[in-house]
Amino acid sequence: MKLHTVEVLQRERFGDHALLRYRWTGSPPEPGQFVMARVASSTSPTRSLDPFLPRPLFAHDYDGEAMRLLFEIRGRGTALLAGEGTELLVSDPLGRGYTIDGGPVALVGGGVWVSPLKLLARHLARSGVAHDVYLEIPAAAPEAYAAWISGSYPDATLVPTGGASDASRAVLESIGDLSRYAGLYASGPAPMLDAVKRVSRDTIPSQLAVRERMACANGSCYGCAVPVWEAGERAYTRACVEGPVFPGEVLAW
Ligand SMILES: Cc1cc2nc3c(=O)[nH]c(=O)nc-3n(C[C@H](O)[C@H](O)[C@H](O)COP(=O)(O)OP(=O)(O)OC[C@H]3O[C@@H](n4cnc5c(N)ncnc54)[C@H](O)[C@@H]3O)c2cc1C
Ligand code: FES
Repeated sequence: MKLHTVEVLQRERFGDHALLRYRWTGSPPEPGQFVMARVASSTSPTRSLDPFLPRPLFAHDYDGEAMRLLFEIRGRGTALLAGEGTELLVSDPLGRGYTIDGGPVALVGGGVWVSPLKLLARHLARSGVAHDVYLEIPAAAPEAYAAWISGSYPDATLVPTGGASDASRAVLESIGDLSRYAGLYASGPAPMLDAVKRVSRDTIPSQLAVRERMACANGSCYGCAVPVWEAGERAYTRACVEGPVFPGEVLAW
């Protein structure tokens, strides 16, 4: 996979969440696509491969000149991305994202996984597709992040939850009558994806963004395999090339 050296334009921190903006003049991202990113090698030879693998992150937003990534700092790779440095190494936008059909549609997200919904909302607006946004704000989210989310998604219905096991249900209940929508687009924690898949079964089509851990991100290692239905049989496919967005009914979990 080719990594491009790009200029970091801005970093913002909201507790352990970060927003990173870099100049991007390559192919524009489709909503739901991701990039592989890592810090550029420093002058120190021991840091040139630290971390060894770039990390997958959804394209959060793109305005024609700059790409935004929104992420939680979880380990070494994301800590370095959120740190200092004026350059990054990033791939082209990768994978298959959301398909835009008719509306109206509902966008459902939770935690930092709301990331790809921003670019999706931008594309829906550009295509004239009516849409509503419903976002879970978990109690564990830093206060500054929750405030930023409400500013960044001004028209969204925000659903604060205590992080309880029924948090996803609370978000789905806030939508009310699902039958007024032609589709559901989701990106959230695993219980939320599961809940969206269940409520959309036999009612309205759903598209879910999964985030299996990735290594090669080019289809060769099968590290990102997800179970899917193929001709009635359970099979495995690669999230990095056939996803990360899948129709809900295709996922076999
Ligand atoms: C297609 C795709 C898109 C993604 N987009 C985003 C995004 O927009 N924002 C964001 O915050 N994260 C996103 N992730 C997850 C992100 O890639 C991981 O958080 C990151 O790789 C962690 O790297 P690290 O070196 O900081 O932590 P590591 O040291 O690699 O891991 C630290 C801990 O992070 C957790 N972790 C790592 N990977 C994942 C994962 N895929 N899902 C859940 N938990 C994980 C585990 O608990 C792990 O123990 C995405 C993942 C995929 C596959
Ligand atoms: S990450 Fe290697 S096949 Fe998907």
